[in-house]
Amino acid sequence: VAREAAEAGEQWLTTTLSTPSDAVLDESDWLHPAVAGRLAQIRAAVTEELSGDTAAFVRGVLVRSARELTCPKTGTNPTWPRPRLRRRRVDIATILTQRAREMVRDIRSAAAIGQPLQALQGDARALPFANGTISAILTSPPYLSRIDYVQATMPELAVLGLDGALTVEKLRKAVVGGVLSRPGEEVPSPPEAVANLMARIRSHGSKASKTYYARLAERYFVDLDASVAELSRVLRPGGTALVVVQTSYYKDVPIELPEIVRNLGAAKALEARVHQTEIVRIHYGRLSPHQRKYVEEKTLNECVVSLRKPAS
Ligand SMILES: C[S@@+](CC[C@H](N)C(=O)[O-])C[C@H]1O[C@@H](n2cnc3c(N)ncnc32)[C@H](O)[C@@H]1O
Repeated sequence: VAREAAEAGEQWLTTTLSTPSDAVLDESDWLHPAVAGRLAQIRAAVTEELSGDTAAFVRGVLVRSARELTCPKTGTNPTWPRPRLRRRRVDIATILTQRAREMVRDIRSAAAIGQPLQALQGDARALPFANGTISAILTSPPYLSRIDYVQATMPELAVLGLDGALTVEKLRKAVVGGVLSRPGEEVPSPPEAVANLMARIRSHGSKASKTYYARLAERYFVDLDASVAELSRVLRPGGTALVVVQTSYYKDVPIELPEIVRNLGAAKALEARVHQTEIVRIHYGRLSPHQRKYVEEKTLNECVVSLRKPAS
């Protein structure tokens, strides 16, 4: 987002929030009805009055404010926020103007070192960039760990007005690593690099391994391969992508995701290496008693896989 657009967005928010408006109530599990109603008005005004980077900046402010606006409860599983039974009537104007001010400060400091920022929205399987134009990529795709990324971002979806049951279901089917199957969908064959692993998942004795879980894993690997292909397409010769991934388990079957990403990259003629391993202590496999039954002390590794496009 250009500095001028961010400053215009901050100015617009300050004016809009200080202008009295009719009190409107709206329904959301996550937000107090008055807060939900005011946010709906703000979103409608963004669509009506703003466009381009300025609209993107204000939506970004909503996303950055989501946790303060919803005050979610987080239990032992940090990726599973839950709404409060008594939703809080928070002070939207103060929260949004503070976040907007911080974001403008960040954007100004980036502009000061001569690096214009731009926020774009897109799908990792179809990046909005031309071939061979990107010098460096830093990314962390979903892991095959049964984390429900839609649930993990429910507070953000709620402030964007995307927490309706139908939208959530659609998202759960669409995202990489989604936990809902897409009925009737023809999944292309998974990449060669995971043939052995897929055979182990399919033949696992536990319930629904051959059906539900094998289908989800298959689709996950097809999607992951599509995003590695996109990284490879957009990187310029000599450019590097750093991909942060974790290992996981399907029951007792280890999923060596860093190694898999390395193989997917190598199959696209990228110079691929796995670096810097960290041990992950808090993860789903330790939180869930169902998972503990398969491997007592599961240790997961977080790695960075570098994928470099050879200089031509
Ligand atoms: C391991 S998390 C990385 C989170 C990130 N580092 C952050 O701080 O927000 C993977 C993220 O990929 C997102 N995701 C899922 N499908 C995607 C897609 N097709 N394109 C882009 N992102 C996607 C998920 O919603 C999730 O937020």
